[in-house]
Amino acid sequence: MDSSNELNAFITKCYQDILLREPDKVGLEYHYNKIIKKEILKEDIPKILRESLEYKNLSGNEKNLDNAIRTKITKCYREILFREPDILGLEQHLQKIKKREISINELDNIFRQSEEYKKIANKKKILKNKKKISIKKNKEKNKINTVKYKNLVVYYTKELDGGGKVFGQDFIPVVKKKFPKASRICEVCSGPGFIGFSLLANGLCDTLCLIDVNPKAIEICKKTISKNHLEDKVKVYLSDGLSNIPPNEKWDLLVSNPPHFEYDFGTTKEEFLIAVDPEWKMHREIYKDVGNYLSKNGSILFYENIEGSKPHIFSEMILENNLELVECFWHKKFNSLRDSKFFFEKEKEFGQIAYYKKILKEMINPSPYRFYFIWSKKRVSFK
Ligand SMILES: C[S@@+](CC[C@H](N)C(=O)[O-])C[C@H]1O[C@@H](n2cnc3c(N)ncnc32)[C@H](O)[C@@H]1O
Repeated sequence: MDSSNELNAFITKCYQDILLREPDKVGLEYHYNKIIKKEILKEDIPKILRESLEYKNLSGNEKNLDNAIRTKITKCYREILFREPDILGLEQHLQKIKKREISINELDNIFRQSEEYKKIANKKKILKNKKKISIKKNKEKNKINTVKYKNLVVYYTKELDGGGKVFGQDFIPVVKKKFPKASRICEVCSGPGFIGFSLLANGLCDTLCLIDVNPKAIEICKKTISKNHLEDKVKVYLSDGLSNIPPNEKWDLLVSNPPHFEYDFGTTKEEFLIAVDPEWKMHREIYKDVGNYLSKNGSILFYENIEGSKPHIFSEMILENNLELVECFWHKKFNSLRDSKFFFEKEKEFGQIAYYKKILKEMINPSPYRFYFIWSKKRVSFK
């Protein structure tokens, strides 16, 4: 018997190959449940999709087929080259697919091997290298600093700061509004625990669990715990994702400001941990394991960055793991002037701002900002 992940991946691939699109949530669940209940076999799915009205419309009508392929090509332009397709490029790819010179599943790779993509990746590298030099110059990076949330003093060093002190504080009003009854909260990828400690200080949980893979982050969290006498309330784990967490841990809410990028763009070792989750491995693992640690109705609230990901990347992981996708949203207040100024200056070199704004507007209303929350939840039927 296939695992639920394999089964979901199989159904997804059938949708991609036959209907040339991602499966919708209802369709994916419908076919998944039919197979689980043994009403149909896994091998029946391609036939069922080919018999669907959608497929007949597609294959019987060349215009519809062309449009479906164009949508797929457009997605690659937007997600890999960060721009709208030019007509020539769009039509050339369409013709190659129709003549079977390339397959639709190869598109991602083809785009990533293009000169245009390499230029974009290179620019990012140059920019990061400039930043690397200035970071090296910064002798202050290991100096211990503090920030205060209500009466709680949080210790940190600059090299462990992944933004939780600034945009990470957007969690406070959001959790206040959406999860007022969380008793135990866990912050994974906690770094110094800016978000978790601030939630605790603001009375938004009774107890806290902090997890990070970096021993330096764990060490500084322990300092904060001891200085604030929080030994009874806060537990901290050195763990790669949730791999080292005991099975008796249960959380009402898992929050995270995780690494936001899938690929390395020339980071230092410390920056890498802060910024990169290679091929989304850690995200994938967390979404796979988290159900075992959530209390009944427990939720997961990640803060992601539109520069590094699009919501559908995580919504697919959420659905694959039999979790429920609740909402993807912005917190309007978060985009402090300082932060957006930095963002605009850095990004205008790529000419991407307008583009991001445009697709964000299309994707999520009302506010096209850089960070987005993605809220998912344990299904009541989760075993
Ligand atoms: C964007 S930083 C966020 C740090 C802190 N929460 C903040 O908001 O400032 C990402 C954090 O994820 C941690 N991290 C990276 N890979 C991890 C993994 N596989 N398991 C657990 N933590 C990881 C890094 O050490 C880093 O502290």
